[in-house]
Amino acid sequence: MAAKLRVGIVGLGQRGLQHLEALWRIPQAQVVALCDPFPENLTEEKLRRFVPGFSLSGVQVCNRFEQLLAVGLDAVYFCIPPGRHQGELIRAAEQGLHIFAEKPVSLFLDEALEMDRAIRRTGVVGTVGFQQRHDGWHLAVRDFLRDKRLVMLTQVTNGTLESHSVKHTRTEELGGPANRVWAANFAWSGSTVVEAGIHPLDLMRFWAGEVVWVRASYIPRAPEDIVDGGDNPCGYAVTFGFESGAVATLNLTRLRRTFWGDGYQDIAWDYGHLKIEAEGPVAYYYDGPYPPPGKVDAAALRHVLPASPRGDTTLAIGQAFVEAARTGDSSLLLNTFASSMNSHSAVLGANVSDQLGGEKVELGELLSHPKYAAYRKKT
Ligand SMILES: NC(=O)c1ccc[n+]([C@@H]2O[C@H](COP(=O)([O-])OP(=O)(O)OC[C@H]3O[C@@H](n4cnc5c(N)ncnc54)[C@H](O)[C@@H]3O)[C@@H](O)[C@H]2O)c1
Repeated sequence: MAAKLRVGIVGLGQRGLQHLEALWRIPQAQVVALCDPFPENLTEEKLRRFVPGFSLSGVQVCNRFEQLLAVGLDAVYFCIPPGRHQGELIRAAEQGLHIFAEKPVSLFLDEALEMDRAIRRTGVVGTVGFQQRHDGWHLAVRDFLRDKRLVMLTQVTNGTLESHSVKHTRTEELGGPANRVWAANFAWSGSTVVEAGIHPLDLMRFWAGEVVWVRASYIPRAPEDIVDGGDNPCGYAVTFGFESGAVATLNLTRLRRTFWGDGYQDIAWDYGHLKIEAEGPVAYYYDGPYPPPGKVDAAALRHVLPASPRGDTTLAIGQAFVEAARTGDSSLLLNTFASSMNSHSAVLGANVSDQLGGEKVELGELLSHPKYAAYRKKT
């Protein structure tokens, strides 16, 4: 296809604006329609604050999805809160439009599965916003680990409650938090594991393959610590089991009045460890004669991996999607909608495990067994 890809964006909030900014720089894409229920999110003046040089000339703005569908598009980006979908993505796929959906694509497995089926049935190109796969360092980690037998992956992230962004959805008018910090609210975000933890979990999958089971325990927030609907748990301890036999732990905190965030990441294979350090990914392993003839020189164990610069990952995933959609070649993507389903089942499965007192949830069963039907259903 020589022509530009005609793109529409649904939801012009924090993420939609980032995608608009990236698409504006991709010569093969032409943004032709923007849709958001709140007119204040669609003014040229506001959009320009986030997208330098943006102009609404040649761009249709609309408040209803039906209007967007009438514009004549090749592809749609969905950047709305994950609990707000009402069948729009499926209708877009049925019209033959290629789909870029922000993570998590839904808070409900049944709905995510229905989206996945629609994309498979219609044969459109589909992807999900796991842009961290396009980070030059993360790609170097993938290449380095390719021939290794992974043992254990560890991710600890201490986040602060106050670091959540004020969002652009008028949640105060939609029965949500009055302060618009919906990522701190369980009903809107589906928990920090689902909203934020899905990124590190998806990266672990990028390196370690498919998750087959999950076990989780969440530490609820004390009632006096719940302010403005910010009722997400204050701590999460999640274990994921991989098809390969590797095990991953994801420990997250979101504490108030702490103002100190940090983290730790380690990937162990059977003969070494890998960490992402300030200068890039570094692997620690011994590669001399074995057993060593003398004392092992600790300095020789540190191997900085050759890696490309980290790059603008939102731009990179946008470029990959635009090219895949223009050519119909999904192999240009680092993740398709279908391949991203395992990341969604894994984090939604963590919620189910926690609700069942830390039960081991096999993802194969979670997707289809009647005993999990109530947990898959949209409520
Ligand atoms: N990939 C990433 O790194 C990343 C970063 C931030 C957010 N996200 C994801 O992007 C999605 C959107 O989050 P956000 O931070 O942009 O939220 P936001 O509240 O800032 O923006 C959402 C926008 O969608 C609009 N909207 C709400 N319901 C709509 C509907 N039914 N139709 C059309 N527009 C609608 C809102 O008015 C708002 O402008 C979420 O799923 C979030 O998890 C991903």
